[in-house]
Amino acid sequence: MTMIQSGKGFVDLFPPKSDLFTSIEATARDVFAGYGCRELRTPIIEYTELFVRGIGDETDVVQKEMYSFPDRKGRSMTLRPEATAGVLRACIQHKLLRQDEVLKFFTLGPMFRYERPQMGRQRQFHQINVEILGSASHLVDVDMLFMLHRFLSEIGLTGLEYQLNSLGCAACRPTFRAALEDYLRDVDQTGLCEDCRRRMTTNPLRVLDCKVPGCKALTTGAPVITDHNCDSCRVHFDAVTDLLGRSRLQVTLNPLLVRGLDYYQRTTFEVVSTSIGAQSSVAGGGRYDGLVKQLGGPDVPGIGFACGLERLAMLAPEQPDPGVDVYIAVHAEPLLEKALEIAQVLRGQRFSVEFPYAFRSLKSQMRSANKAGARFALMLDPDGAAQCTVAVKDMRDGEQFVLSEADLPSQLLSRMAGGA
Ligand code: HAM
Repeated sequence: MTMIQSGKGFVDLFPPKSDLFTSIEATARDVFAGYGCRELRTPIIEYTELFVRGIGDETDVVQKEMYSFPDRKGRSMTLRPEATAGVLRACIQHKLLRQDEVLKFFTLGPMFRYERPQMGRQRQFHQINVEILGSASHLVDVDMLFMLHRFLSEIGLTGLEYQLNSLGCAACRPTFRAALEDYLRDVDQTGLCEDCRRRMTTNPLRVLDCKVPGCKALTTGAPVITDHNCDSCRVHFDAVTDLLGRSRLQVTLNPLLVRGLDYYQRTTFEVVSTSIGAQSSVAGGGRYDGLVKQLGGPDVPGIGFACGLERLAMLAPEQPDPGVDVYIAVHAEPLLEKALEIAQVLRGQRFSVEFPYAFRSLKSQMRSANKAGARFALMLDPDGAAQCTVAVKDMRDGEQFVLSEADLPSQLLSRMAGGA
């Protein structure tokens, strides 16, 4: 029979990588809790309309990357390509948004985009996503960037660049868009990629952050978005950059940073690494004041970001395998059930314990103990079992000693804590 493989761009996660994912997620939970951010889980499948309206029908994500299919009643459903639209839908649907209240949510889980797979880019990938709803203050923008920075630092990421831009708002963006359209119409367009030729009329801002060299070259003399920001956008962005300038978080202003989703307004940012190849963005986000209303909710401002877990894992330092606390070896087959009994007692005291399910030579069992990275090996023999004692080997220094079964948990614990 031929083997069935996973789909292209759909990746299996197994140890040690799955351990790294779990540990990064645990750090996220821990850091976010310090900022009052709680978990919101939304469905992986939503009505297609939500993403078309939320992300924008001229974006690459909606135009060519969504996994959409009709359900049995013929309604178009989509595997979520990102979390923001679903989180906002949930907040609106369950009436969680109240005047003068700030909501902070994080969401972890798989997202789906039909993109060409390459290093750091998959069709099913995982995001760590945060949204803060209910405040237009520049303090939120800065506090969120601090939270992101703390999280990325705690998982051991260094050498990242925090890029910042302001995309203006519904009042001032049209002026910039018109200036950009004029500019693009007048330049020699032969170098533009096929996508950007389309974007020139549908979504000209996206031409600015196209990575194709011909398109990049054309942006050199292009109008600068922050020069076209209205007074209130300028005041907001100045307040953000002033505050960041007085902090230890170094940011780089990048007037070409546009982001691929249409909902952004004012502050936008991306965290970029130089060491993971072409897919260098490890996190991205920004303000989306107006989006909640556009999705049928109250006029509540919001800001958020998402990190790509695969990209974080590529950059995070390797973690040593913690190994098990105890491996129980036996001198004779009938003692395997005794091993099971002792394992249960120790696990009840929060030790991690392994023992063999089939009898093998003691030498082979000790090899397994080593492979499992055990701190202690217990060696059960018939005499000890009769006297309720256990021979123990401290695998760290090779010392061997005998303990009574009753004392096992406390004695092992005190050795692990560096005691006797
Ligand atoms: P995004 O920039 O589309 O933003 O994605 C955020 C991050 O997800 C990227 O920086 C990247 O690390 C990761 N990512 C995206 N696509 C892939 C892929 N195909 N394979 C691997 N990783 C990928 C958003 O999704 C916004 N919803 C973020 C946001 C939240 N803005 C406001 N709130």
